[in-house]
Amino acid sequence: MNTDNWITAVLALRKAKHVVVFTGAGISAESGIPTFRDADGFWQRFPPEQFATWTGLLRTALTRPQLVAEFVLNVVEPIAKASPNAGHLAVAELEKHVKTSVVTQNIDGLHQSAGSTDVHEIHGSLLEVVDTSAAQVIRRFERNDLAQIAETLRQYATHQISLFSLLRQLRKEYPFDWLGRHRPNLVLFGDAMAEPAWTEARRVVDQCDLLLSVGTSGAVYPAAMLPDWAAGRGAAVVTIDPHPTGDCPLAGNAGTILPRLIGDAFGTAVTSNPDAGT
Ligand code: APR
Repeated sequence: MNTDNWITAVLALRKAKHVVVFTGAGISAESGIPTFRDADGFWQRFPPEQFATWTGLLRTALTRPQLVAEFVLNVVEPIAKASPNAGHLAVAELEKHVKTSVVTQNIDGLHQSAGSTDVHEIHGSLLEVVDTSAAQVIRRFERNDLAQIAETLRQYATHQISLFSLLRQLRKEYPFDWLGRHRPNLVLFGDAMAEPAWTEARRVVDQCDLLLSVGTSGAVYPAAMLPDWAAGRGAAVVTIDPHPTGDCPLAGNAGTILPRLIGDAFGTAVTSNPDAGT
């Protein structure tokens, strides 16, 4: 770990008036939710051409419903079982020290579960059902509801129930409508960003004087432009990731670095031993 970067990050946190914490899948990895592009990531196991667009999902569902059930099970179950880790909790703690806005690409709702109050989910939320015709969220699930849906999917994916039984059971657990207007409030490839989250995200990035970029590969736009956008407006940027590529890189896991960084910033003294952060 680079000592200078550590001290720069601690001092920037102390000085900040408004911090944006911009997060990706990496912050939830320690809660048991796979990332997308790491070795064991989703897109390694499920090709995005088939699974990252609504048309791809529908086309695959018509030909290989079992495979789509397996994919959805792999998305839903880890989120249903997840709880916030030390990284999410540290971000929620930060609010007690400085004005903090969370801009997340994650759909797992773990920042809110950790206690963060100003969260903008720019890729939507798996815990929400949207009525696409009214562009309105019509239902918000608890994690337990997702666990029930995951169990039903598992029964079908393991050939315990038929496709007909799966659809009949899911009708009870999920407010589908036959015209396909009701669906998970998710932004897939080619979709417009979630609103008002995206408008709010750009507003807080415009206003912040420090952006912490945590656990994102920066592979997906327009979200990936936010750190440069903040830097372009004169904000300091710190990047936290095991393989950081952005400004003021701090290499390591979010669940280890964030608690120590926030502890050092708002504790007594800046540690000169950045290895305490790994
Ligand atoms: N702590 C911090 N970062 C981590 C950790 C960890 N414990 N584990 C992995 N990472 C890092 C990886 O090194 C990588 O840089 O998290 C990043 C995850 O990158 P991606 O899998 O590409 O996820 P993300 O950047 O969130 O993807 C962006 O792409 O597939 C779409 O819509 C999806 O929101 C997603 C978007």
